[in-house]
Amino acid sequence: MQVVHTKEELAEQIAEWRRNGDHVALVPTMGNLHAGHISLVELAREHAERVVVTIFVNPTQFGEGEDFDTYPRTLERDKRRLKTTPADLIFAPDVETVYPFGVEAATVVSVPGLTEEFCGAKRPGHFDGVTSVVARLFAIVQPDVAIFGQKDYQQQLVIRHMAADLSIPVQIITGEIVRADDGLALSSRNSYLSDEEREIAPQLHEALKFIGRELQNGKRNYEDLESSAIVRLNAAGFEAEYVSIRRAENLEIPDRDCDELVVLAAARLGPARLIDNIVVTI
Ligand code: PAJ
Repeated sequence: MQVVHTKEELAEQIAEWRRNGDHVALVPTMGNLHAGHISLVELAREHAERVVVTIFVNPTQFGEGEDFDTYPRTLERDKRRLKTTPADLIFAPDVETVYPFGVEAATVVSVPGLTEEFCGAKRPGHFDGVTSVVARLFAIVQPDVAIFGQKDYQQQLVIRHMAADLSIPVQIITGEIVRADDGLALSSRNSYLSDEEREIAPQLHEALKFIGRELQNGKRNYEDLESSAIVRLNAAGFEAEYVSIRRAENLEIPDRDCDELVVLAAARLGPARLIDNIVVTI
């Protein structure tokens, strides 16, 4: 498996693959790879002969006071982890490579609407940073397929919207959430939790599953279900940001007949901001 840092080296390798008729799948990450990321690499391999994993901690998607400086950067460990996966190449550019005119002068790609609630409301500018960097990665790698995790449910919808709206010729595929045995969705930010917080953390998924069962049992009082989950999370030691039942397709407020729902949640637990979601098909 190759590791390249420049666009030129990357373009050369991709051109060679293209000459052989190979398709290319892209798995964008910020590194500090865990089993969730690895599952996306494996899924990528089912869709293309060649898999490129990008490792880039993107400065533009972190807000003031967020964890850009302390975000775990573990390239050597990530390289070792990817050796045993079907990845062909790691692209680990520096900031100047991705933003050649500098971050301040960078072109911004912004999806309205979908980005305004939930993580977009709590983290102003976050999704502009995500779409701007993913558009750049699409332009640099020109993949046939790109894989994103359901873990960041709103993010994958926003990226789908961007690609469709800009006619970017890439197929977006969403991979399932990989969880620890106790149900906690794997995340690089779980490492911020103390032992005690780590014990509490699975209750976020428990709260979502409880709502999922209530919905399956025919409950349609969405707002009551949301607010009782918030009370339950806060009582457990979280500081809940939101728990919301929405249409899975577009995050709009569902009517009573909607049969494809997503339950989204974000909550602070000590130093970590945890997000999770479940899709409920009725
Ligand atoms: P990062 O947080 O590193 O996540 C990279 C990809 O892994 C995302 O698509 C995310 O949804 C997925 N992922 C994270 N945890 C997962 C889990 N437990 N199971 C399955 N997939 C999981 O998301 C980003 O980076 C960035 O915003 C990025 C898209 C790379 C743009 O900078």
